[in-house]
Amino acid sequence: MDSSFAALWTSLLPIGRDRTTGGYRRFAWTDADMACREWFRDQAASRGLDVEQDRNGNLWAWWGSPGRDAVVTGSHLDSVPDGGAYDGPLGIVSAFAAIDVLRQRGVRPSLPIAVVAFSDEEGARFGVACVGSRLLTGQLSGERARALRDADGFTLAETLTKAGVDHAAIGRDDDALSRIGTFVELHVEQGRGLVDLDRPVGVATSIWPHGRWRFDFTGEANHAGTTLPDDRRDPMLTFASTVLAARTAVEGNDARATFGRVLVDPNGTNAIPSAVTGWLDARARNETTLDDVVADIGAAAAASGESDRVGVAVTSESYTTVTDFDPALRDGIATLIDHAPLLPTAAGHDAGILATAGVPTAMLFVRNPTGVSHSPAEHAEEADCLAGTDALAAVLADLACR
Ligand code: GLV
Ligand code: MN
Ligand code: MN
Repeated sequence: MDSSFAALWTSLLPIGRDRTTGGYRRFAWTDADMACREWFRDQAASRGLDVEQDRNGNLWAWWGSPGRDAVVTGSHLDSVPDGGAYDGPLGIVSAFAAIDVLRQRGVRPSLPIAVVAFSDEEGARFGVACVGSRLLTGQLSGERARALRDADGFTLAETLTKAGVDHAAIGRDDDALSRIGTFVELHVEQGRGLVDLDRPVGVATSIWPHGRWRFDFTGEANHAGTTLPDDRRDPMLTFASTVLAARTAVEGNDARATFGRVLVDPNGTNAIPSAVTGWLDARARNETTLDDVVADIGAAAAASGESDRVGVAVTSESYTTVTDFDPALRDGIATLIDHAPLLPTAAGHDAGILATAGVPTAMLFVRNPTGVSHSPAEHAEEADCLAGTDALAAVLADLACR
């Protein structure tokens, strides 16, 4: 049977790709993101699916009338800086391709099926991840979301207005939420679990608890040549000690701690900085370990700050508790798709946000031979993507033909 996967994939591939790095820069509500949204509308229209944008900017394409007990699948189109092609888009391309498979097979679902593209899953622009699904479920308030700022100082409220979204209306959306009977997100695996198991498709068991913390280090700007070592109040030094402390804090723990983003003020080669801000992304197998790791890093930062005479302030920007996916749904899906293996993940997903909100939710993973993600090296072989699409089609048919 012909698959539409390759054509869908190829049509999305050029949007938002940086020529130099080959990575994607599809940040929420930028031109690249808007072009991805246009692509979503075009793909839905060419399949006769009605598209709506909900109050929070999430896009929905409906096979059947929007209504209760809908079987919803999809993911996100935005990316991290220089992200790979698969994280997010694979779930949306596979969703449209799975609908094509079901139609070619003459399947007539009794429940509506929707493809969703959640807004701003990565949080690359405004700092908070899963903004679209968190707003939908009320896990992020409209008030807090409106005030989020990007690196150029634009608020999310201003940005939404520019994109034609009424920012006054964002927030928990009970109408949109109540229509979701089940949510299934297909995603590229962000590790080598399936490679090791020699299987193309897996099913998620749980998502590790995770969060983001902002560390502000405040010192004193001064001359790089004339300031004696003992006279310095250098926030870069305290930041560097804190990065090392993050490495030490996860030693021997089932935990991860990463400083992947940093701002330096004034950012001059021949000046001691006046301020450094670093963002910690921390995750762990359980919440106690996560809390302990973050507390250890905070304590190490405070101690270094004291000896360096540098101010340290730590602000929690987001926190997601452990997510266990619906066991019955998960096991039923695994059995249905060839006894697919079960895997936990340390990556965050909109599926986790919906599961926390009480929606029966599952995730499928597609093998990633590099095991790399959030980088242009992220990959999935076409044969595995087709296996993922077939698995998703089987799951949709099972859930929607009752
Ligand atoms: C999303 O990909 C995350 O885990 O940060
Ligand atoms: Mn991601
Ligand atoms: Mn993702």
